[in-house]
Amino acid sequence: MCGIVAYVGTREAYPIILKGLKRLEYRGYDSSGVALLSNELSVYKKKGKVAELEESLVGKDLHANIGIGHTRWATHGEPSDRNAHPHLSPSGKLAMIHNGIIENYGQLKSELLKKGYRFHSDTDTEVLLSFIDDIREHNDCSLEEAIRIALKRVVGAYVIVILDRDNPNTLIAARKGSPLVIGIGKGEHFLASDASPIIEYTKEVVYINDYELAIIRPDELILKNLGNETITPYIQKLDMELAAIEKGGYDHFMLKEIFEQPHTIFDCLRGRLELSEGKIHMRGVEEHMEQLKQAKRIIIVACGTSWHAGLVAEYVFEELCRIPVEVEYASEFRYRNPVIHPGDVIIAISQSGETADTLVAIEKAKEQGALIFGVLNVVGSSIARASHAGAYTHAGPEIGVASTKAFTAQLAVLTMMALKLAMEKGTIDAKRYQHLMTELSDIPEKVQTILQNTDNIRMIAEKYADARDFLYLGRGYNFPVALEGALKLKEISYIHAEGYPAAEMKHGPIALVDDQLPVVFIATKDAYHDKIISNMQEIKARKGRVIAVITEGDTVITDMADDVMTVPAADEIVAPLLSVIPMQLLAYYIGVHKGLDVDKPRNLAKSVTVE
Ligand code: M6R
Repeated sequence: MCGIVAYVGTREAYPIILKGLKRLEYRGYDSSGVALLSNELSVYKKKGKVAELEESLVGKDLHANIGIGHTRWATHGEPSDRNAHPHLSPSGKLAMIHNGIIENYGQLKSELLKKGYRFHSDTDTEVLLSFIDDIREHNDCSLEEAIRIALKRVVGAYVIVILDRDNPNTLIAARKGSPLVIGIGKGEHFLASDASPIIEYTKEVVYINDYELAIIRPDELILKNLGNETITPYIQKLDMELAAIEKGGYDHFMLKEIFEQPHTIFDCLRGRLELSEGKIHMRGVEEHMEQLKQAKRIIIVACGTSWHAGLVAEYVFEELCRIPVEVEYASEFRYRNPVIHPGDVIIAISQSGETADTLVAIEKAKEQGALIFGVLNVVGSSIARASHAGAYTHAGPEIGVASTKAFTAQLAVLTMMALKLAMEKGTIDAKRYQHLMTELSDIPEKVQTILQNTDNIRMIAEKYADARDFLYLGRGYNFPVALEGALKLKEISYIHAEGYPAAEMKHGPIALVDDQLPVVFIATKDAYHDKIISNMQEIKARKGRVIAVITEGDTVITDMADDVMTVPAADEIVAPLLSVIPMQLLAYYIGVHKGLDVDKPRNLAKSVTVE
């Protein structure tokens, strides 16, 4: 969370930083700010979105060839002008931006208060900056050395970038736990939390690792560790196009990303699922096939929507591979004392690859000898680098805070993995294997069919947009889809929603049902179809308003439900890839109808890099 951008070179820094902040706004939008250094060091910051900062700076002289910028997701201190970054050091010589949390900031703050320092914000960032400033002022050392000394005492996660009035050509950055990419141009460098602010200018980038410090000048990038040893930067080429991070004519990124799904799922399957050969190629799986085959247990760790993908995968792996699967919230797993055996396989699922809880959870499991397999979207992300093996989802950049195309791509990857493993283990026969491969390869076209007629979903959304609560129910493979539908609605429309296994409803949630409550059933044709119809009857008997996602041609539910949304028929193992699409659209259209900012819902951020 929090987005950082910085520039040093020969161009005007402000427009580059401003555009970069707009691209990174998905990471947090409580406040934003910039610091620019020309003849003097100027800091401008503002509560609210980047557009508000931009407006407040109209008419100001913002000329500078070096600068830093920040868009904040508040952790320490409410969203306000004074808590916005960049922060200025007590000497007035340094400006700093920070993404992460300094856990021992309280201790550092009381030491500094005893020395007579005073603070102008409630942030941990200002404390760290004052600490660095204090070391530099009193130890007669360089800024670089002061940062190194300070960071050795810091507990927590950070990316920091510091602008120094006395070194108008130099930025110093350091990282532990939060992401930082440096773009290498001709006589210029770009720094950012991800590659989206950089891609327009250069495709050559260096990903900074934990405990590394970068000294960046227009013509020079020096990388060191905290022991002051020089490290050779590993330059990578970005495999991303500018169009992928722009709205391309859609009103919102979320809508664009929903509509991209036929392509993203296709891209995910392409080159892997070879129907004619009857084979699935996945290098990460092949290289660790023996360990996967021998696994006594698979533990899936993830958060949010990725956790829901993990729940679907639990059903699929257990059914096809006959391996017990546990699905864990990464945030709980990391603080428990989980029993992990050396032969266990951990699958970490994450769109961003930066989720702090998931990252720490896999590091913990790795220490105990488990194989870590990442199912990730962002190439080169922290979780990708911490994993032993993995498979990318190839969904392309996901900018809308509500995850959509990443979820379906995760399901596609996990299903291919399970199928491949099941075939190797001999837990499914060739006929079923071939059938499921065909079912999977048909998904992009079926998603396209759903997206061709969204008017009905929009009308349903408008009809129920004023409801105070929603209940989502599903069984089997569609139970996680109910959870995902409820999460999407909460995030985007701020309507309270709960997802439940349909049969579990009788054990409590049914008390909520009255003639005002919309109950969304994910009721495509599968082994539980008759059972879910009974659950629907139970809701109808209590006058609940039933909205159902059904398989095309299902006249029984059409006659029973108040409203239906149809999806093409599919094997139940791949059905969630279809049934989730109306759920995404329902949430989207309700959010839009209520006039909400669906791409940047309140209080949220795209990458949750703090715990
Ligand atoms: O990047 P990750 O997949 O690790 O993110 C996990 C969750 O933070 C994420 O899925 C979140 O729940 C989304 N806002 C859901 O739409």
